[in-house]
Amino acid sequence: PVNVVVAVDGTSGSGKSSTCRAVADRLGLRYLDTGAQYRAITWWMLDRGIDVHDAAAVAARAGEPVLVSGTDPLAPTITVDGRDVSVEIRSDEVNGAVSPVSAVPEVRTRLVELQRELIAPADGPRGGIVVEGRDIGSVVWPQAEVKVYLTADPAARAARRALENGGADVAATQESLLARDKIDSGRAVAPLTMADGAVHVDSTELTLDEVVDVVVGLVMERV
Ligand code: C5P
Repeated sequence: PVNVVVAVDGTSGSGKSSTCRAVADRLGLRYLDTGAQYRAITWWMLDRGIDVHDAAAVAARAGEPVLVSGTDPLAPTITVDGRDVSVEIRSDEVNGAVSPVSAVPEVRTRLVELQRELIAPADGPRGGIVVEGRDIGSVVWPQAEVKVYLTADPAARAARRALENGGADVAATQESLLARDKIDSGRAVAPLTMADGAVHVDSTELTLDEVVDVVVGLVMERV
């Protein structure tokens, strides 16, 4: 599947990252985690002491940080102004601030441009890619050959995410996931939605391997 673009959108904690990395690895494709980009710009805003609930302040600074995403599915990285923030962007502080920052149109314009350039570089070979986010199939790359909308019951998502985070509190994790879903689905610009032509996959009752098989199957049948 040479230049295929696989767009995977869905709710927080539905297993997008694990699924996309495994699919990309199996098919020899690149991998782009757009959530990591929104998290990185959020980390930078917090680091600068910018009030993340002040949309005008966030908009005014959105063009400043230089973000670079590594697209190796086995070792994805993200740097801001040359600093690797792969660990920092998973903090509770970033979890709590990322949705308001992501709702600011200037932030989205900036990152969507970056994402399109990574998907299909203007000046070089591209190669297929698996891209995960909230608006990939609807806004960033509506022409994607394969679009998946991945969801799972909130309790299942919270249980998995809490386990990933070394046994964090499940109830608090579920609250945080649902708070992000609510803002992400309700915002004016590029809300989380099932894109036209997307296939809905509910991972509640599936193992990771089963979800990966479903997505790989979709790619193989469409390219
Ligand atoms: O995917 P992840 O949970 O890491 O994304 C973190 C946050 O980034 C989401 O809750 C959402 O606010 C924002 N996001 C977005 N659009 C994307 C990817 C992520 O608004 N394409």
